[in-house]
Amino acid sequence: MKKNSAQTSTQDILHSEESLSNIINSPERIKAFFELNQAMNLNKNIEDVFDTFIKTIKDIVELQSYGIYILNEIDNEFDLRINSHLSPEVESSIKNMFEEGIIDWIIEEKNPKMIPNMTPSADECKELKNFFLIIPLIVREKTIGAIIGCANTEVEVLEKEDLDFLFLLSQSAAAILENTVLYENMNKKINELNILTQASREMSTVIGIDNLLSLVLELINKIVSSEYSFISFIDKESDSLIIKASRGLEENSLEEMDIKIGEGVSGWVAKRGEPMLIADYQNDIRFNKFKDIQPFDVKNVLSVPFLGKKDIIGVLTLYNRIGEPQFKNEDFQILTALAGQLGTSIEVVNLYETLSESYKNFIIVLANAIEARDQYTRGHIERVTKFAKSTAEEMGWEEEKIHEIEIGGILHDIGKIGVPDNILNKPGRLTDEEYEIIKTHPVIGSNMLKSMTSFDPAISYILYHHERYDGNGYPFKLKGNDIPLGGRIIAVSDSFDAMTSDRPYRKGMDPKEAISELEKNRGSQFDPDIVDAFIRLYKNGQIEKIIQEGSEYSKN
Ligand SMILES: [Fe+2]
Repeated sequence: MKKNSAQTSTQDILHSEESLSNIINSPERIKAFFELNQAMNLNKNIEDVFDTFIKTIKDIVELQSYGIYILNEIDNEFDLRINSHLSPEVESSIKNMFEEGIIDWIIEEKNPKMIPNMTPSADECKELKNFFLIIPLIVREKTIGAIIGCANTEVEVLEKEDLDFLFLLSQSAAAILENTVLYENMNKKINELNILTQASREMSTVIGIDNLLSLVLELINKIVSSEYSFISFIDKESDSLIIKASRGLEENSLEEMDIKIGEGVSGWVAKRGEPMLIADYQNDIRFNKFKDIQPFDVKNVLSVPFLGKKDIIGVLTLYNRIGEPQFKNEDFQILTALAGQLGTSIEVVNLYETLSESYKNFIIVLANAIEARDQYTRGHIERVTKFAKSTAEEMGWEEEKIHEIEIGGILHDIGKIGVPDNILNKPGRLTDEEYEIIKTHPVIGSNMLKSMTSFDPAISYILYHHERYDGNGYPFKLKGNDIPLGGRIIAVSDSFDAMTSDRPYRKGMDPKEAISELEKNRGSQFDPDIVDAFIRLYKNGQIEKIIQEGSEYSKN
């Protein structure tokens, strides 16, 4: 085989006008050169550009199949971007050449080369001699990839001018390829950045740790899609990881997973505090003894730890990459960034929950102080709150809104602080004047709290809990849907408790009787949908359960 005798690089030659006229040395070549450039100017997609390129060079060498490989700068590996009829055998021969460093050597030389196929296993290549044509794709002296084609040819060697011509043409295709890759990478980065910004924004506003973890798994799946994923927390007592949120995993699979610290991939990550990327789990001997106990088929794994204030508090693990053959370094970087954000957000949510718990305890103390003055209504606030919460749940309210109605329930009568003791605790009937004073309590309550913006929706529930659905309530005689729904729910709950509670001048009604009263006033005093929800709760025993329960609030 004749060796390419050129000592100067093809790049140098291409910069000399004299040499260019040697390369484009025939009308066919001039035509080919212009055809290719014209095709590329037509904004065709990258597959079409290379297809035209291969057709253009067929007079020099006919490639039966080819692959366009692109250098992935993160992994420093060549990824197959376009596969034009490469058989699995030929693809694996190319893979071997990459592994043996043959292709790297040719690319470093920056000259196209024909080399014989060392592993001619492909059936289609038996008759003729099987060669690979390797053309480095170079833009501004930087290698961005390579064209690797399979040629069945009797010509074992291409003339230097031919190789130079191929290289000249490949440079135009390389420029288009670079633009396409840059554009795609930019779009991908913008998308990732959008998701990360969204993640950071949503993670900082989410309420409740469970919601946060589910949200994180959903967001991760948008960027690094995988078959299964979970977030687990270190439990020091049992020296294991407890899975708190998962995606793609069945409930029974989760029960089977007992992850001891230091064992398996996640356990190892939890112990060492270092992320781990496993491209081929089945052939990784470090995890041999755990393979049989995995409740699902594991191909590849990416696992990263996340930190609390200072220590590792948990591990985020993804199994079986979707859309890529395995997890890549890029995935690793994204996941590490998200895990950092996750650690901070968990701290914030925990802090918020502690604060919110202290806050709730504070208002319960406040509400109990009011209740203590009203000696006949012991437990009223707690029951009204529980009735209202259950009704809201029954009506499908979201967790966040249910928290608001809880605050509304606890504080609904806080304005009674402004009602004198002798009126509040009067054993007999109230005079009209006294009743007018009692009727001020929703306004007093809402005024007391109006500067506390975190109580916002709950304040309107407090203000409107004595309005009636038919417009005959107080303080504003609002009607129907003009009354905030939370106010209408508290109204039903409050009335039911008032009817069933004992007073010094009368015995409380039986709950069944009070339910008939609600039914009787369904659509007049009370919102019919709320009465229906309340009756459903009564029928399934929840109302009775609340009545029977001892006071939890007074324990605080
Ligand atoms: Fe009230």
